[in-house]
Amino acid sequence: GAGADLAGRRVVVSAGGTREAIDPVRFIGNRSSGLQGYALARVAAARGASVTLVAANVSLPDPAGVDVVRVESALQLRDAVIDAVADADAVVMAAAVADFRPVAPRLTKIKKTGDEPEAIHLTKNPDILAELGERRRAGEKSPKVIVGFAAETDDVLANGQAKLARKGCDLLVVNQVGENLAFGTPDNAATVLVAGGEAVEIPRGPKDDLAGVVWDLIAARLV
Ligand code: C5P
Repeated sequence: GAGADLAGRRVVVSAGGTREAIDPVRFIGNRSSGLQGYALARVAAARGASVTLVAANVSLPDPAGVDVVRVESALQLRDAVIDAVADADAVVMAAAVADFRPVAPRLTKIKKTGDEPEAIHLTKNPDILAELGERRRAGEKSPKVIVGFAAETDDVLANGQAKLARKGCDLLVVNQVGENLAFGTPDNAATVLVAGGEAVEIPRGPKDDLAGVVWDLIAARLV
């Protein structure tokens, strides 16, 4: 599919990786570059969609014609996504969201002089994708199509199927991550798990190609 098949559609894409403050200069982060999420936003805009891109700590230029909202932490990303999906037809959660954050970030820089460093106590972040699924299940106003990403290092398909069910999304794009796979590279390969349907295999190729297949699957569910 191509052309302007997403014209008149409003879509939300999250990209990048959240940072959870430990103190004013340090954070807990992850290896997401934002390349796949930016490819999704760029391809949707090229196909005519009105796109809001919620970008967490991405050092890439804003894609042309896309409304970019920059955030840092998981809590900020949640608020931005919930705000942006209000009138959306589809949401794609490509961001790597920290599962945990330090309970009480220190207000001043932790020093190495003095005592042994204390433990960093963590608390769970909200699962935004699961929340989107729950809102829809509860009959609240919701995007028609909800898509998640999952990076797995082992038992990729079994873990992915369990995650698709647990999060209540329509599609789950599962990639294997590890040495030279996915993170920071221009190429990606994935399996798209489909709720109540056959999985779709996407061979290794540019992240724009993977984005194209994902939007094909979404567009088919928006008619
Ligand atoms: O559970 P896991 O982190 O592997 O799930 C990945 C998917 O869930 C991604 O789509 C990610 O954007 C989303 N997620 C989320 N909120 C979290 C953790 C993950 O929305 N706290």
